[in-house]
Amino acid sequence: MKTLIALPALLVFLALPAHADNYSVPKNAAFEEECTSCHMAFPPQMLHADSWRAMMNGLSKHFGTDASLDEKRRAAITDFLVANANGRKTGTTRDAAGNPLLRITETARFEKKHSEISAATFKRASIKSPANCTACHRQAAAGDYNERSINIPK
Ligand code: HEC
Ligand code: HEC
Repeated sequence: MKTLIALPALLVFLALPAHADNYSVPKNAAFEEECTSCHMAFPPQMLHADSWRAMMNGLSKHFGTDASLDEKRRAAITDFLVANANGRKTGTTRDAAGNPLLRITETARFEKKHSEISAATFKRASIKSPANCTACHRQAAAGDYNERSINIPK
């Protein structure tokens, strides 16, 4: 009887450390096809559901590009992003005017974690933009943003 009670608790304990900094992107065919051709697959866990809804409602003006989709695909990808969104980890989710933040790189959590990186570093030819996560986080595609796998290119 004792082991029957202890096992679930042990499993929860074992799952905790890995879960804390795992941002691997859940499998979704539509998301992979439509949202990874211009940049990496940004983890849905890194933005609030309100931010994903706002972004998916403005795809024709997506950061200076047109990323429009037909309505069926747009709705399916929105559902996927919202279902996997995580408000808790992102800190502040709205800008000063009360609109949902559209960039992971504008969230309080991102700014806090990258406060020691200068604007000039982010602009290096080898990096170009704070949104270019994979330039520094070599294992970002696997959801690993750990310090161990960071390498800031010159
Ligand atoms: C036609 C190209 C294109 C497509 C398709 C596209 N994006 Fe983007 N996306 C961009 C560009 C350009 C940026 C701005 C990158 C930068 O600032 O360096 C961007 C930025 C983003 C950011 C903000 C990154 C940050 O700064 O935190 C998110 C989140 C994002 N895209 C999600 C998506 C999603 C979700 C889809 C699919 C529905 C998608 N993108 C499809 C071009 C695209
Ligand atoms: C110029 C290099 C650079 C870029 C680009 C960059 N990061 Fe980072 N990131 C770092 C460094 C360095 C740290 C470690 C900060 C520390 O712990 O002192 C870090 C820390 C993090 C952490 C915290 C890791 C932990 O274990 O606490 C996350 C999450 C993260 N970055 C996500 C992102 C995402 C998402 C992007 C793209 C939208 C991104 N980063 C772009 C350099 C970068």
